[in-house]
Amino acid sequence: MNALLIIAVRKGFTETVRRRRLLPASTLMIPSCLQSTVPVVAARIPCRVKVSAGKRYAWCACGHSKKQPFCDGAHMTKAPSIHPVRFSPDKDGHLMLCACKQTGNQPYCDGTHFTVIFQDVVKSVKKVFKS
Ligand code: FES
Repeated sequence: MNALLIIAVRKGFTETVRRRRLLPASTLMIPSCLQSTVPVVAARIPCRVKVSAGKRYAWCACGHSKKQPFCDGAHMTKAPSIHPVRFSPDKDGHLMLCACKQTGNQPYCDGTHFTVIFQDVVKSVKKVFKS
């Protein structure tokens, strides 16, 4: 009886360990208070990328991806409430994809990055006059 119980406990334990392994290790370590709910600025200028017609792309909407402007799955741990924008171009060519993540026309650049740059300049000037 005890041997069966031990085996059951061990099986349950290994199942728990297996389930945890399905999740990225970083998921278990990042507290929710450190996960962002608004996109972060990945860059202050758009990314010019070559795309193929009919191919599916996932544009990073959270700004945490290391493969900008495309998603690398970083939103799952750093911004679970923000999902990538999937799109499929109609024709081959080059696109200007937003990297500041503030565009009103996702995933394309609409010039909002100039506002981001201006806000950064204003912050810098305010710091100079404070000190
Ligand atoms: S890079 Fe975001 S609007 Fe241009």
